[in-house]
Amino acid sequence: MTSISRLPSGAGVGLRLPQIAEVVATRPSVGWLEIHPENFLANPHATELLTELSQHYFISVHSVGISIGSVGGIDRLHLKRVRALVDRINPVFVSGHLAWSTYGGEYLNDLLPLPYNLEALRLIEAHVREVQETLGRRYLIENPSSYIGFRTSMMSEAEFLSELVGRTGCQLLCDVSNAYISAQNMGYDVYQYIDSLPADAIGEVHLGGFTVEEDEASPGAELLIDTHAAAIAEPVWNLYAHAIRRFGARPTLIEWDNNIPLFAALLAEAAHADEVVAGTMALEARCADAC
Ligand SMILES: [Fe+2]
Repeated sequence: MTSISRLPSGAGVGLRLPQIAEVVATRPSVGWLEIHPENFLANPHATELLTELSQHYFISVHSVGISIGSVGGIDRLHLKRVRALVDRINPVFVSGHLAWSTYGGEYLNDLLPLPYNLEALRLIEAHVREVQETLGRRYLIENPSSYIGFRTSMMSEAEFLSELVGRTGCQLLCDVSNAYISAQNMGYDVYQYIDSLPADAIGEVHLGGFTVEEDEASPGAELLIDTHAAAIAEPVWNLYAHAIRRFGARPTLIEWDNNIPLFAALLAEAAHADEVVAGTMALEARCADAC
């Protein structure tokens, strides 16, 4: 299995199709770029541009179509296409979600939740093994943004993810914004959640914006929706600093997929993430000296 011997320094940004030509033309200074392979598999021109960018930037491949939670199994043809793209651009990470998005051969444009029990764990374990064997490298699993829970869940999300790491050798992509959204929606302590994750397994961090909407199931109550359509909120930046204290500095990516701003605004968010890391690590060093 491929081991990662190189890592980006500095935060990266999600590269979306409307901005790829600008990035190719201007080559902005940014730590790294993350793409959704599903945007490129049927777009040869975009794939050419991405291949060019891969000569100059660390690229990460973040799949939204490898449905590891599907009871019907992984779409092997799709997985082979992702493998072909991975072979072409040699990304620094390949990741996907703890979720399902296919049923009966149909793709659903959503990342749907799972119960955290042994039956689901065995299913996901088998699928993560299949993905890693097909890709020939370690896969990173991202914690989801949650809006409902299951009565059949027998363990916490952090326990489920820790078990998955132990059984498959996969790594985790900690989406700090998703953690915040889930904890707010489900009513648990997000700092305790971050402290419960296996720090050594965290290979990457995501930060993204959310939208506040009225909860139709509970009139008057609010629901946070993981829209990736806004700047990163202050409580998420604070939680990010805590995550860095707990995990150490990790390659961090800014996700912004809807109402996409100018690329310069994405770079400003990435620069702020770098400032948070530098400030947090400096504070940690001063505390260590004082002790
Ligand atoms: Fe994410």
